[in-house]
Amino acid sequence: MQFDVRETESAGDAIALSLPQFRAVEDVGRNAATKSGLDATPEQLPAAPAHIRAGGRMMDSHGRTILDLRISITDRCNFRCVYCMEPDVQFQPRENVMTPSEIIRMARVAQSLGVRKIRLTGGEPTLHPQLTDIISGIRAATDVEIAMISNGSLLTRQKLSAWKRAGLDRMTISIDSVRADRFARVTRSTVTPEDVIAGIEMCVAEGLTPLKLNAVLVRGQNDDEAVELARLARRFGVEMRFIEYMPLDSAHAWDRSLMVTARETRAAVEAVFPLTPTNMDDSHSTARTYRFMDGAPGRIGFIAPVSIPFCGACSRLRLTADGNVRPCLFSTKEWSVMTLLRGGASDAELANFLIDVTWTKLAGHNIASPDFVQPERPMSAVGG
Ligand code: 5AD
Ligand code: SF4
Repeated sequence: MQFDVRETESAGDAIALSLPQFRAVEDVGRNAATKSGLDATPEQLPAAPAHIRAGGRMMDSHGRTILDLRISITDRCNFRCVYCMEPDVQFQPRENVMTPSEIIRMARVAQSLGVRKIRLTGGEPTLHPQLTDIISGIRAATDVEIAMISNGSLLTRQKLSAWKRAGLDRMTISIDSVRADRFARVTRSTVTPEDVIAGIEMCVAEGLTPLKLNAVLVRGQNDDEAVELARLARRFGVEMRFIEYMPLDSAHAWDRSLMVTARETRAAVEAVFPLTPTNMDDSHSTARTYRFMDGAPGRIGFIAPVSIPFCGACSRLRLTADGNVRPCLFSTKEWSVMTLLRGGASDAELANFLIDVTWTKLAGHNIASPDFVQPERPMSAVGG
């Protein structure tokens, strides 16, 4: 079956896997396994307890409920951010990527199980040629909040307006530097910070708000730019969020010493702009947010998955571009829903599958542990 063909990151050679309906993809050591001819000993997804299935909600065994689905609609990107993907990253063959109707169907089933928010991610979702159809399809099939994360490099008023009319509610834009040389070095693209700032202005003008901006500070690259980036929040009246660098880079170059902690970033911002907590954070929110003490517009958010894990309040599930459900960003195991989607499964079967995968969610990611194993797939494959 064509959709079971995976490209390995190491050699780029395709391997045909003959898989049963439920398939776990072991992430760790996939390359090694491939070389030895991975005859995937397929793992059966255990069924969640009957009363959990009957409840019609995605609940895990640690008392958490899924409200937020992140769907990677493409693993391709026009950037090669140093903390994300290497220049030679291998993308999935197009036939392995979920079609718009498969994405929309998954959104509808997820909403029937209690999902309230869908975030379209990538790769870079704006590269998807049928993005407007995906948004309008999700809008027609559900009443969830639809958000999208973008690197902001390919935005135009026309596109933003079309997405908004199709049903997009909010945008998040990544911007890691306001200095052209740095920006080029971090994103390994020819895009300039001004291009992205123009995109930010367009999102605000188009009412794709509340707008959030994301930055990842990497030591030795852009770790001295916290204040400059914080100024963007004040200038545009938006939330600038600093995300700790996580071990999700395709280069596997992450090292704790390269990570700038939220505490450190906050101290840098506060040296110039004193902050006070908004005390308005949703219990499931990944960010702790602050207002400027001087009353300036905008907010600062800190997302500290490494130094202050927030797994206890996790309400998220992820769907990769190639149709795998990932219980956690850091999962080393993911489950193929593509096999079901293309194998004639009913909505009820898809729903049970999502309930069962959710039940497998581990309590936390354990990055702090010396036993932590970095997932093979980078953020771009997993969906931020
Ligand atoms: N660590 C932290 N954040 C990352 N992102 C991508 N890779 C990493 C990483 N290794 C961020 C992007 C984007 C969001 C989807 O995830 O900058 O803002
Ligand atoms: Fe592309 Fe986003 Fe990864 Fe940068 S972080 S390479 S913009 S997917």
